[in-house]
Amino acid sequence: MLRDRFDRIINYLRISITDRCNLRCRYCIDKDFPFIPHDEILTYEEIIRFVKISAALGVKKVRLTGGEPLSRRNLPHLISQIRDTAGIEDISLTTNGVFLPDRIDELTEAGLTRVNISLDTLKPDRFAYITGFDVFDRVMDGIEKAKHAGLNPVKINTVIIKGFNDDEVLDFARFANAWEVEVRFIEFMPFSQTSLWDASKVITSAALMQIIREVYEIAPYRNAHKGPAAVFTMKGGPGKIGFISPMSSHICKDCNRIRLTSDGKLKPCLFSDQEYDVKRLLRGEASDDEIAHFVAETVRAKPERKFEGGMIKKCQRPMRNIGG
Ligand code: 5AD
Ligand code: SF4
Repeated sequence: MLRDRFDRIINYLRISITDRCNLRCRYCIDKDFPFIPHDEILTYEEIIRFVKISAALGVKKVRLTGGEPLSRRNLPHLISQIRDTAGIEDISLTTNGVFLPDRIDELTEAGLTRVNISLDTLKPDRFAYITGFDVFDRVMDGIEKAKHAGLNPVKINTVIIKGFNDDEVLDFARFANAWEVEVRFIEFMPFSQTSLWDASKVITSAALMQIIREVYEIAPYRNAHKGPAAVFTMKGGPGKIGFISPMSSHICKDCNRIRLTSDGKLKPCLFSDQEYDVKRLLRGEASDDEIAHFVAETVRAKPERKFEGGMIKKCQRPMRNIGG
């Protein structure tokens, strides 16, 4: 079992499998920053070996992220290999949804269990503005197909940014009910490679909850997966809403995850620039036992909480290298 210095049990691995993406969300990237060279990106074989070692240490859940994970070739192969790994119970994907309509069947056949889809606005013109591409309808189609394929619950990730989409909070609550999905509002976080962030654009979960409470009677959802989201049901409707509050609250005491970047660095904390080069071991002579030891040491390096000993600061890596 992977246990850190603060008695947290780490059983959840998030893997960014590529930094490439077909969109250019303004809160993620300003312009075309150089991508990581292909030979620096972990191969599927390296990722699968790492997952096997992690599973033997007690990792049960794997989430694949990007960039856009569907922009990498032959993703179903990776999913089925991970699904077949002893100990892995859950394999999910975070995607912008654009490629989902065409790909959902092969993903579910490969063993995908759940999907989170990013959608920050319900207005097509705003969607085109924030992502740089006029593909709103494809994402909506992707959501529908994911539901139809039985990937329940489908979760929608919505980053709320003051002055951009904060007037759509109630629309999203209605959408959650109408589409029977879980909409998770995420506080806007600072990352490098985007100049969009400043503190005045952050709206706290508490403020969003107040807006929703004026219209909806909400109650904590008991079956929520343990994780950073506080999830609520809305009386009179099947939808759920969740709040992820990385900026305004300490979700760190329940943190159960480590992250593997697309270029093979292990990150014990999303908000820290601390990272540990496991690719060097995967590409060297290291045995599985040595790599397992390295993972355990990385887990021991997990800070107690974000922004330890200091101010909120920008994480030096962009989101598209870490995968959220
Ligand atoms: N703040 C909050 N969430 C972000 N995401 C990307 N950039 C940011 C940011 N600056 C979200 C994406 C995606 C998830 C992986 O992270 O919308 O849903
Ligand atoms: Fe791509 Fe996600 Fe970044 Fe948008 S936020 S550009 S979808 S990686």
